[in-house]
Amino acid sequence: MRLPFICSVLALSLHASAWTHPGLLVTDSDIARVQAKLAAQKEPWVSSWAYFESLSFSSSSYSPNAVSDIDRSTNGDVLWHDAAAAFNLALRWRVTREEEYAKAASAILTAWGNTLTTFSGGDDRYLSAGLQGYELANAAELLRDYAPFVQNGWDAFVDMAVNVILPLNFRFLNHEEGSEHNVRHFFANWELAQVASVQAISVMTENQTAWDFAIDYFKNGDGNGAIGNAISNLVDEPGTGTLLGQGQESGRDQGHSALDQQLLAAIGQQAWNQGEDLFALNDSLILRGAEYFARYNLGHDVPFEPYTNGIVSYTDISSASRGATRPTWELMYAHYVQIKELEAPWTKAYLNNTLEYFGGYEKGIGYGEGSGHYDGVGWGTLLYRLEESDLEVLKQGMTATSQVLASSSPVSSTSAVIPSPSVTAISRTTPSTSPTVNSSTDSIVSTTTGTIAEAKTTKSPLEHSHGHGPHTMHSGGHCKA
Ligand SMILES: *[C@@H]1O[C@H](CO)[C@@H](O)[C@H](O)[C@H]1NC(C)=O
Ligand SMILES: *[C@@H]1O[C@H](CO)[C@@H](O)[C@H](O)[C@H]1NC(C)=O
Ligand SMILES: *[C@@H]1O[C@H](CO)[C@@H](O)[C@H](O)[C@H]1NC(C)=O
Ligand SMILES: *[C@@H]1O[C@H](CO)[C@@H](O)[C@H](O)[C@H]1NC(C)=O
Repeated sequence: MRLPFICSVLALSLHASAWTHPGLLVTDSDIARVQAKLAAQKEPWVSSWAYFESLSFSSSSYSPNAVSDIDRSTNGDVLWHDAAAAFNLALRWRVTREEEYAKAASAILTAWGNTLTTFSGGDDRYLSAGLQGYELANAAELLRDYAPFVQNGWDAFVDMAVNVILPLNFRFLNHEEGSEHNVRHFFANWELAQVASVQAISVMTENQTAWDFAIDYFKNGDGNGAIGNAISNLVDEPGTGTLLGQGQESGRDQGHSALDQQLLAAIGQQAWNQGEDLFALNDSLILRGAEYFARYNLGHDVPFEPYTNGIVSYTDISSASRGATRPTWELMYAHYVQIKELEAPWTKAYLNNTLEYFGGYEKGIGYGEGSGHYDGVGWGTLLYRLEESDLEVLKQGMTATSQVLASSSPVSSTSAVIPSPSVTAISRTTPSTSPTVNSSTDSIVSTTTGTIAEAKTTKSPLEHSHGHGPHTMHSGGHCKA
C-alpha cells in the first residue's frame, strides 16, 4: 500500500479518462478466467457451466415476450424471465463466442427496447424497475460490442432504459414517491435495487452525472439505500468484540436480509469494476453486515439494537426464514478474503453453507421459480471464484494498473474477485435450508431444519491476515499493491 494518496486522487478522476467495458458484474478478465477453467476441464466450473447451459434461459431458442406495460404483481415474471435469458445468453456468447447466443440475447433486449413504455401497479413498479433494470443493463453491457445489436437494437434499448427505467430509479431515490411517509420508509432492498440500476444504466450509457449520483447516494444518501442506513447499527460480536453490522431488515426477516446482502455485493462489484471501492467504505461496512447476517443465519446469536424508521419498530432480530441464502457469497468471499486479505470467518462459513445448499457451485438467475430467484444474476462460482494462480495474476494486474494510473493515462481497469475452494468452518448435521418462495413478497423464504454446530474461528472477523488492523483498508479500487 504505497500509493494511497495517488490512488484516492486518481479514483476521483478515473471516469474523466475512461470507462471500463464490460464493467458491471462481469469484466473481460472474468470471462477469460471462465474460458481457461473450462478449457482445462476444471471443477466446479465444468459442472456449473453444464448446469448454466441446461437452463431454458441459456438456450438460443429462447424467444422474447416483451410487453408494453409491466405490473409486477400480474406480469412481472414476463420481464424477469426475459431479463434472465438476456443475461444468460449474453454471458454464454461472451464465453463461447458462438453467435447464436448473441443473436438471441440481442433479440430480447431489442424487443424490450421497442416495446416497454410503462411500469404500473403502484409502489411495486420500483422493484421491477430496480431489480430488472440492473439485470437488463448488465446483459446489454455484455453485448455492447456485438455489431448487429449495436446497429439494430442498442439505440432502442438505451432509449427505453434511460426514459422508462432510469426516471423511476431517480424518482424513488429522490423521495418523490408520494406513498413514502419519510425518507427511510422503504426497506433497504427497495432503494438498493434503484442504486444498482442507476449504476448499471450509467455505465452502459457512460453517463457521468448519473454515475456520480448513484455513488454519492450510496455513500451519503438519507434513505435506506445508503450504506449507513442499509447497515443501521454496529454491534459487538459476543466473545470477540469485533464490530458487526446489523442490517436494516434484520428485524423483519432473513429472506429480505439475504436480498440486501445480494444487492450490496452487486453494488460493490459494479463500482469496483469502475475503480470505485465501495467495498472498503467505512471500514468495510458491507463486510461487517455480511458477517452479522452470516453468523446469525448459521445459528449463532448476535446482539440486536432496537430499530425504528417511524413506520416499523423492532426490538429483536427476526428468525423468520433464518438460513435463507442467495448466490452472493462467492463474490463476498473472493473480494474480502482473497483480494483484500481480510479475515471473514462467517462469510467464509456462509459460502460453504451456500455451496452445500446449491450442490457444489453457486447457481444463477433462472435457477428456480418465484421472484426471489430473479433478483440478481448470480453464477458466483463461475464468475468470481479464484484459485491461487488467478489471485497472482489479478494482483499483478492491479499493480500494473496502479502504475498506469500513476501516469494518468486512460486505462482499462482490471476486474476483481473470487474465492478459493478451501472453505472450512461449519459442520452441520443436516442441510439447514429448504427454500420455498413467498410469491407475495420479493424474497426467497427458507426454513431452518437442521442443527448447526459451532463454527471454528481462529481470528477476529475483519482482522487483516497480514497483521494490520481493520483500519488499513486500501482506498482505491485497483490500487492495492
Ligand atoms: C444522464 O443522467 C441524468 C441523471 O443524472 C439524466 O437526467 C440524463 O438524461 C442522462 N443523460 C443521458 C444522455 O442519458
Ligand atoms: C463513513 O465514513 C465517513 C468518513 O469518515 C463519515 O463521514 C460517515 O458518516 C460514515 N458513515 C457511516 C455510515 O458510518
Ligand atoms: C464445508 O465444510 C465442511 C467442513 O469443513 C467440508 O467437509 C465441506 O466439504 C465443505 N463444503 C464445501 C462445499 O466446500
Ligand atoms: C409471505 O409474505 C406475506 C406478506 O409479507 C406474509 O404475510 C406471509 O406470512 C408470508 N408467508 C410466508 C410463508 O412467509
